[in-house]
Amino acid sequence: MKNSKVLITFDILTLMPEMFLALSDYGVTGRAFRENIVSLNLWNPREFSTDLHKTVDDRTYGGGPGMLMMAEPLVKSIEAAKKRQSAVGINNSKVIHMTPRGKLLSHKKVKELSECEGFIIIASRYEGIDERVNDWVDEEISIGDYVLSGGELPAMTMMDCLIRQLPGVLNDDESATQDSFVNGLLDHSHFTRPEIFKKKKVPEVLLSGDHEKIRLWRLKESLKHTWIKRPDLLDEKLLTKEEARLLEEIQIEQEQDSI
Ligand SMILES: C[S@@+](CC[C@H](N)C(=O)[O-])C[C@H]1O[C@@H](n2cnc3c(N)ncnc32)[C@H](O)[C@@H]1O
Repeated sequence: MKNSKVLITFDILTLMPEMFLALSDYGVTGRAFRENIVSLNLWNPREFSTDLHKTVDDRTYGGGPGMLMMAEPLVKSIEAAKKRQSAVGINNSKVIHMTPRGKLLSHKKVKELSECEGFIIIASRYEGIDERVNDWVDEEISIGDYVLSGGELPAMTMMDCLIRQLPGVLNDDESATQDSFVNGLLDHSHFTRPEIFKKKKVPEVLLSGDHEKIRLWRLKESLKHTWIKRPDLLDEKLLTKEEARLLEEIQIEQEQDSI
């Protein structure tokens, strides 16, 4: 990676900053941090708590189980993070709260968010945050219809998706453009050595060296996986003539196979 300019800055509000080592120290994302393509600043709302015990949570009004993150330490952390981002010249940053009630993260959402240079992400714990903090939040995002114990893993999930879209992060920039969902389809099947594994052979076309045939085979595989595993994606996709023809072929082949 040759890029030396920071392309995205993340300021994360978390009670468990160490968890972010999983992202900043490993794999493709770890390299992006080491190469300064991405910058990460961790804010612990406890540092902004004014009482002796550094309290950040309290019981909820109206009763009920669980504790809630208090407004003041969070808002002070957001304001400090905003000040820091604008001091380094970031003016189009977004404050995001990771929460199950947010908009579902998707490839489309990742592309939309990747227009921003800076993110201030609240990774909350307990039952979530005091509702009044939402006056400082630009967007709520969920990673799926299930509940995790904290916002750190959801924040890291979103950050990883954003980082791998950046130029210079993947060894081959093209590979992000060929991933599932990018063109509205699932990825095609892949094979590596050996050529024969437990009597199962790599499809002949992939050994042919004929680029056009390989492109067509891969497109058909993509369509086949999508049609079988995620037909809902096809409802939203405008198929090219070539894709429509291949899909028809797949459907005929499947019908013949089931007879
Ligand atoms: C135990 S959860 C709170 C769940 C909350 N009481 C509810 O039912 O929506 C604690 C925190 O984990 C994070 N979290 C849990 N599931 C999430 C999801 N699917 N997407 C994004 N964040 C999530 C949020 O930051 C949330 O405030």
